[in-house]
Amino acid sequence: QDLTFMAGQVGKDGYRHYMEKELHEHPVAIGQTLKRITDPASKRITLPPMPFDLAQVPRVTITACGSAYYAGMVGRYWLESLARIPVEIDVASEMRYREPPQPDKGMALLISQSGETADTLGVLRSLKKAGQSIVSVLNVEHSTIGRESDLVLGMDAGPEISVASTKAFTAQLSVLAALAIEFARARGTMDQAHEERLTASLLDLPSRAAEVFTRTKDIQAMAGVVAQARDVLYLGRGICTPIAFEGALKLKEISYIHAEAYAAGELKHGPISLIDQTVPVVAIAPSTILFDKTLSNLQEAKARGGRILVFTDTAGAKRLEGVAEQIVIMPDVDAFVVPILYAIPVQMLAYEVALLKGTDVDQPRNLAKSVTVE
Ligand code: AGP
Repeated sequence: QDLTFMAGQVGKDGYRHYMEKELHEHPVAIGQTLKRITDPASKRITLPPMPFDLAQVPRVTITACGSAYYAGMVGRYWLESLARIPVEIDVASEMRYREPPQPDKGMALLISQSGETADTLGVLRSLKKAGQSIVSVLNVEHSTIGRESDLVLGMDAGPEISVASTKAFTAQLSVLAALAIEFARARGTMDQAHEERLTASLLDLPSRAAEVFTRTKDIQAMAGVVAQARDVLYLGRGICTPIAFEGALKLKEISYIHAEAYAAGELKHGPISLIDQTVPVVAIAPSTILFDKTLSNLQEAKARGGRILVFTDTAGAKRLEGVAEQIVIMPDVDAFVVPILYAIPVQMLAYEVALLKGTDVDQPRNLAKSVTVE
């Protein structure tokens, strides 16, 4: 996707940057993507028919690059926990040369906004040679990866111009959440009531996502702290760990501040030595089952002078009094959709920091929208 060509076709609609516009398109991208894969009458998730029996798939291999890989990491949690299916996952540039043994009649799930990423295309070809069914989650469906897939699960995120991926990320997650529900249904690992609850939380997401923009002032306050740092540590647990990785990547790529993401439980195994008052700690910590463990990690970091900045919900905010320096209180949603919703403010944080740093938000140095070379 040549950025200048695409930009010629799509305007900024009055926003300062394409990234700002595309951040505000999260609710529509999620809503349009879900509308396409939900039966209007029954309101049930209805993906296009798979060229194989979902109940017979022995393992799913997930591979992608960058933000798309972090979307795949979230997808793994959903597939393992809801559909109880084994998942192998790695970044495409590693998977391609590792050539892990593949099961007979396995399914490969490739995720890509552009559908042109060289490493993802390369690993598609080796997985196809290894007899895997190729399913791809793409924003640009008529792309090289689209043409070489056995099935494309398309997204309706619309053209994404800014180099930093935003709305395509939550659209990818919406498709992956729907796929996990269909896998669970086919494998009988989820009853009707559970499926209806998860589907309802997905379909309610566009309005929850729109609510996030009422938190812009709090996110700007957090950006004021992060913008002064040279190093930032992002923490998450469980299904929020990939969102910590996504937040760190966004900050690096558009504000040029070094950031690292870790599973919060790893803090003791080294990274805590990084912490002092110059290193902000950004935590994605909704009040789900792992909250207490993350809280103790944050207390340890604070005890070492770390500046604790947290994305949480109302219940979590109460427990963080005296620990967090800044809190963004997110709308209450089912734990199932937390990773999709919380991706939005972490991306907004990176955008607000980049504004303060005065970097070229839409075309950061050294980066391309689609990495079509190895
Ligand atoms: C994300 O903000 C980056 N621009 C980059 O990591 C991107 O996600 C990666 O290059 C994969 O691109 P794709 O989704 O088009 O394959």
